[in-house]
Amino acid sequence: MKSPTLIDIKTLALDAGKILRAGYEKTHQVEYKSLIDPVTEIDYQAEDFLLKAILGKFPTHHILTEESGIIDGDHDHIWYIDPLDGTVNYAHGVPVFCVSIAYAYKNDLKFGAVYDPMRDELFSAVRGQGATMNGKTISASNETELERSLLTTGFPYDMWETVNDNLNDYGKFAKLTQGVRRLGSAALDLCYVAAGRLEGYWEHFVQPWDVAAGGLIAEESGAKVRKINGGKNYLTPPISILAAPPALYKKMDKVLKDN
Ligand code: IPD
Ligand code: CA
Ligand code: CA
Repeated sequence: MKSPTLIDIKTLALDAGKILRAGYEKTHQVEYKSLIDPVTEIDYQAEDFLLKAILGKFPTHHILTEESGIIDGDHDHIWYIDPLDGTVNYAHGVPVFCVSIAYAYKNDLKFGAVYDPMRDELFSAVRGQGATMNGKTISASNETELERSLLTTGFPYDMWETVNDNLNDYGKFAKLTQGVRRLGSAALDLCYVAAGRLEGYWEHFVQPWDVAAGGLIAEESGAKVRKINGGKNYLTPPISILAAPPALYKKMDKVLKDN
């Protein structure tokens, strides 16, 4: 059975990114999947493009996507697709969003690509071969102290109603570090950790398509990426995730576990 190549994945990310770029700052048809969880016509357009392109070449593969859910196929070949990560930013005209594509063979992530069309930054990784941004090797930060670190996180779409709103952890890290950013794109959060721009990322209750590509890219950059309960497989919901270089990972993990 045919597997994709890194070039296949990168090309898909670049082409879907063109769709996001072309639709940026146009007036959008915004629908709400829940109270504060929007989806635009561009999410659907980018996803349709990706599904047709992947199924055209790999018709038997299994695909998990944000908007269409599960396209059932051969579980030896699983794709994780977020056609537009950062939809709230996108719908408001904030230029922080990306497309995120990952491929796993026999349940092990092999390739990941995240493309930010506004900055023309293509992050990618192949398991065991390191991570790159626009072809150049990237590495997670060497920082070991929380007080010298800049972190990033996200908040769940049901934060108005849930007790798991991340505000307690956010408050703790805000007073232990140089700051905690909220980029609004989990995939870019992970890529920025991979590029050493930000030291660490945590978030509660994300979905596999949010973190599959960025997780592999962060791992290949030298960061440790795990579920907050320590589980190695961060693709099986419920997913609360922590990504940071090993020394900081230990410190962040302790903060997250201290009540
Ligand atoms: C969201 C973004 C956000 C994160 C949410 C995700 P979407 O994805 O990655 O940063 O905090 O958990 O759902 O809805 O923009 O694809
Ligand atoms: Ca997402
Ligand atoms: Ca999305």
